[in-house]
Amino acid sequence: MSDRTNALSRRGYLRGLVAVGGAAALAACQDATGETDVPTGTPGERPARQHAWNDALDTDQDGNIRLSRHHVLVPLSLTGTPDKEAREQVESALQSLESAYAHDTGGLLFTVGYTPEYFRVIGEESPIPEPEPLTSMESPEFDEFDALVTLSSDNPDVVLEAEQALLGKRAKANGVEMEATLEGVFEQASPRRTGFVGAGLPAEYTDTDGVPDSVPEEAPFFMGFRSGFSASQASEDRVTIAEGPYAGGTTTHVESLELQLRTWFEQDSQYQRVAKMFSREHAESGMVGDVGEKLETSTGVAGEIAARTEQDAREHGIVGHAQKAARARDPDGTPPLLRRDFNTVDGDRPGVHFVAHQQRIEEFVRTRKAVAGEGFSGQGVGQRLNNGILQYIFVRRRGNFLVPPRKKRSLPGI
Ligand code: HEM
Repeated sequence: MSDRTNALSRRGYLRGLVAVGGAAALAACQDATGETDVPTGTPGERPARQHAWNDALDTDQDGNIRLSRHHVLVPLSLTGTPDKEAREQVESALQSLESAYAHDTGGLLFTVGYTPEYFRVIGEESPIPEPEPLTSMESPEFDEFDALVTLSSDNPDVVLEAEQALLGKRAKANGVEMEATLEGVFEQASPRRTGFVGAGLPAEYTDTDGVPDSVPEEAPFFMGFRSGFSASQASEDRVTIAEGPYAGGTTTHVESLELQLRTWFEQDSQYQRVAKMFSREHAESGMVGDVGEKLETSTGVAGEIAARTEQDAREHGIVGHAQKAARARDPDGTPPLLRRDFNTVDGDRPGVHFVAHQQRIEEFVRTRKAVAGEGFSGQGVGQRLNNGILQYIFVRRRGNFLVPPRKKRSLPGI
């Protein structure tokens, strides 16, 4: 094996362990990584907003914010009706994690969010709506457990260990004593979800069913293009709840999708892929590059290209995903969603866990409907065919969460 193949298979092995989870996977991961130097943290120094990750995240060569590499979404169910003591226990567990790991990509970035079901159990009116199907082409399952912890780090052993420590399966995290855990208040629910993001990582999965060899070597996402350009992301301020009991918090929508990559890479040309992902104009002008490297910090879809979507459908029979999505921006051109989506091979199939923050779930709904472009079908494009990337993405699950500000993150409403 060459050094490169060795390095690739080692990285693939570590991500495989994150997907499996549990004590044995953690032990194997720690064995494989050896002593990683993970920085510890100080709870009081964490930002007041749980979703304030941008200052801690790295940027790419153009200054676009880049997510950490490893992700775990941990679903939780309450074991009973919680009280104030339970709230203190949860807060102490979360502060222990913050002592164990720095607020940093080498340490741990995390949020805790609550479903409408949680608010029903504690007898409070839910500040967020129940999840529902958002297009006529889907019949998803819904996240009906009570809470979701999102864990993210560049170190695979950190997400695994933090999860085990929170669930009460380890006394220490990063060598730091857990003063409390979630045990007794919450138990693990399902589905546990995992994933990864970063240039070159998707191409390492060509031995997974449904991941063709033609996934570009340098692509950070399965569908081959860079995403999350700073001009098309909402700021953390824009997605922060402005008033009411959860001012300073945000909402999260998690949409889990399966991908049909074979047709995308093997039947379509690069011209078609660019036209379907961005717009016809992007394909004609060659402004994207192989994986979006020419775009720097903006796709340029907002404004004229977005305004021409319907005309492109009628006259050219093709519309782009980003072109459609940009129609949901605020009237002044501000994007309403902060997207923090990542690739997955959960279930041994390629997919995406599309995690988005917004001030109100309604803003996600508005954007998702723009992405569905249902009005265009019959006007030159099909319900899925040539209608952005709809022919290749299949919605399997949706969940809505309230992510309170840090000081109210532990069992809000109790
Ligand atoms: C597998 C699924 C998906 C892939 C591969 C994907 C990929 C992309 C890419 C490459 C861009 C252009 C780059 C950028 O602006 O950052 C983009 C933009 C965007 N996508 Fe997606 N996307 C997916 C699903 C979704 C879903 C489910 C939504 C839900 C609302 C969504 C909403 C958006 C928005 C809002 C933009 C920015 C539009 C603007 O410029 O205002 N995407 N996506």
